[in-house]
Amino acid sequence: MSKITKRYIFVIAILLALFSVYNYFIYTSEAYTATAALSPQAVKGQELWQENNCWSCHQLYGLGGYLGPDLTNVYSHPDKGPVYINAFLNSGVKSMPKFQFSENEKAAIIEYLRMVDETGYYPNFDASIENSGWVTLKYKNGR
Ligand code: HEC
Repeated sequence: MSKITKRYIFVIAILLALFSVYNYFIYTSEAYTATAALSPQAVKGQELWQENNCWSCHQLYGLGGYLGPDLTNVYSHPDKGPVYINAFLNSGVKSMPKFQFSENEKAAIIEYLRMVDETGYYPNFDASIENSGWVTLKYKNGR
């Protein structure tokens, strides 16, 4: 092996070592773990949400179908909340079907919407522009 080839191999070995260390820190850092994990009841609610295609008419964080309203903050809305959500799940309205949910299922969907609501605001206008030029959104619970 020529001297120059050895030098290349040496440099590449150093770069690979740095790359490994870098990856180790990136993929083991806390920043990559989800801050909000759904409770088992909320997971059940999410399954019901998906199985019954609530998505096709409703949005969370603006994503979904547009026949019905966005439900990101329906839980904490001053005029709405759990009892209000329950009423819609009981009876539907003319453009929302009446579902035949059990009490447990309704409670699970409401728990899911409660936990979604906890994660933030939609739409979120509470933002500040930092000196660095980045826009920082204000989240619930300081997250
Ligand atoms: C076929 C479309 C459709 C489907 C599917 C649907 N909805 Fe709705 N939903 C609507 C419409 C439209 C409204 C608004 C009705 C009104 O205000 O008159 C509504 C209203 C609501 C409201 C009250 C929202 C508010 O801010 O006033 C809740 C809560 C709700 N739906 C939950 C659900 C859940 C949970 C599911 C799934 C189990 C679901 N909906 C499935 C169409 C739908």
